[in-house]
Amino acid sequence: MHHNIKKILYTAEDISARVRELGAMITRDYQGKTPVLVGILNGAVTFMNDLMRAIDLPLCHDLMALSSYGDQTVSSGTATILKDATLDIEGREVLIVEDIVDTGITLQRVLTHLGSRRPATLRVCALLDKPARRRMAIKPDYHGFTIPDVFVVGYGLDYAEAYRELPYIGILKVNG
Ligand code: IMP
Ligand code: MG
Repeated sequence: MHHNIKKILYTAEDISARVRELGAMITRDYQGKTPVLVGILNGAVTFMNDLMRAIDLPLCHDLMALSSYGDQTVSSGTATILKDATLDIEGREVLIVEDIVDTGITLQRVLTHLGSRRPATLRVCALLDKPARRRMAIKPDYHGFTIPDVFVVGYGLDYAEAYRELPYIGILKVNG
């Protein structure tokens, strides 16, 4: 275990088992469709990579980037779009793929933005749900795990761009 990690919450095995379950649910719910997965950079890349291979359907994927955190562990309260999705999503089944929903500010911004392009459906799949600090009345349609109000890293999640490569999800030591 990395020396700056206090505790492992989910091992690589826990994550891959849960990703397979999420993939099976999405496969069932989108039967006969070709969904468009829109991953939110940078954190959701690892998850989306695994998730799309756990879905047994033809699909497309795209990426968006938003700024909100900087190098802090608390949200700044605004989410600015830095990179937009480019696929035409009008009339398509769109599934936003996020690493974690915390305050919900990022997701609310993405939902409003993509919703204006008139997709047939617009849903959210987040690996982690951290409802304790939610400021928007939203919840992911699919989520891997619900976590308490702790700051986690690994499996794509970062602190100041570090720790994304860890294969597990762990709680970062304070001042680590
Ligand atoms: P929200 O806009 O507050 O919901 O924050 C969503 C974004 O904040 C996520 O996409 C993550 O990049 C980041 N974030 C929130 N909580 C954590 C955490 O515990 N660890 C790492 N990143 C986090
Ligand atoms: Mg993120």
